[in-house]
Amino acid sequence: MGTARNVDIPIPQSFSWHGSFSRKRRLMDDSGIRAILGIASRPGILSFAGGLPDPKLLPIKEISECSETVLRDHGFAALQYGVADGVRVLAEQLSNLSISKGADCAPHNIIPTTGSQQGIDLIANVFLNRGDTIAVTSPTYLGALQIFSAFEPRYVQVSCDDEGPLLSDVEAALREKPAFFYVVSMFQNPTGVTISRARGEAIVGLCHTYDVPIVEDAAYQELFYDSEPVSLRSIESSMLRENGARYEDCGRVLYLGTLSKVMSPGLRVGWIEAPSVVVRGIACLKQGTDLHSGIMNQFIAAEFLKTHAAGYWTRLRKAYKERRDQAVESVRKHIGSIAHACTNPQGGFFLWLEVAPGIDTTKLLPICVEKFGVAFAPGAPFFALNPSLHTLRVSFSNLSLEMIDRGICSLGQALRS
Ligand SMILES: Cc1ncc(COP(=O)(O)O)c(C=O)c1O
Repeated sequence: MGTARNVDIPIPQSFSWHGSFSRKRRLMDDSGIRAILGIASRPGILSFAGGLPDPKLLPIKEISECSETVLRDHGFAALQYGVADGVRVLAEQLSNLSISKGADCAPHNIIPTTGSQQGIDLIANVFLNRGDTIAVTSPTYLGALQIFSAFEPRYVQVSCDDEGPLLSDVEAALREKPAFFYVVSMFQNPTGVTISRARGEAIVGLCHTYDVPIVEDAAYQELFYDSEPVSLRSIESSMLRENGARYEDCGRVLYLGTLSKVMSPGLRVGWIEAPSVVVRGIACLKQGTDLHSGIMNQFIAAEFLKTHAAGYWTRLRKAYKERRDQAVESVRKHIGSIAHACTNPQGGFFLWLEVAPGIDTTKLLPICVEKFGVAFAPGAPFFALNPSLHTLRVSFSNLSLEMIDRGICSLGQALRS
């Protein structure tokens, strides 16, 4: 039986949700990432576009064992609400990992995050005001630019060579008093370049001289195929130790870690290492953002680090190294001198190519997909300013050796056409 209404609604019209979006939402353009992931998932395309781990290499058996152990040993705590500071056993495992790499770290220097993407977002929200200056490399991780751009920042860009950011550019950027210098230090997304120890020491020294924090994104740190790289975080720790100083009092490097590339991106387990005053500031913000990251996943990650990580990471490095070798060899064979420059990554998922200056790779991509059945990530979205249009990123992580060779052969044909 219907109820009589006092108020009649007018004839329903469609609502302009877009017109109601906040300024922040409008500034956070995700078209670059969405376009790349959209193309990456089209059936029948050999895609070098997304930076995804190979699903066949994900440690399903190991995670299943860890889940059983966690439910048996911590069932009630793992399924209950927790605190933003995170699960203690995970902070302990992560601080041990950090110490094993030469950093000065205690569990109170760690806060787990929902992937390192949230780590970047939390750091941005803790340190940035609208219109602040941020120093970034040219190019840099586009997911970080998406977050930063919501703050309408003034970017200062730092060019890089095959040892990392150029010191003259770093110094010029630091003179501009940025809120921080964001840098992907090892096997960079998108170029694959790793900062050498000598360059890293100079960069850390400059950041102390100019009193500018470094936000070190180390998403690919464990995926080394030749020798193990050294993080800016560890370099700073040894420099502080030599001077009798502690990270807690004098550290300037904020470190972003993640298990996405070396366990599972779906679990969304990342972390920030920072002096405890910064950890407390971040925890306060995180509480208001998502209360805490998934407790069960934090327990599973801690168990995985304790029992399986070392063996699994050795296998993973071997598998991805073969793909890196294949990608480098296929570029040499099928692209050769059409590539004006190609990086030679010592780890991670990516190669970066510079092609003839007349080729705009954003325009080339749809042709490549339609006519040659192969996709890549155009370089332009990875630049905060002055995009270099004739660059592209090749991700070799999610294809077999045979597919890598076939795909790069097609890419070579497309570049020649
Ligand atoms: C450099 C870099 N930082 C952060 C992230 C985000 O990773 P997560 O899955 O931990 O959020 C990625 C993902 O591709 C990345 O390449």
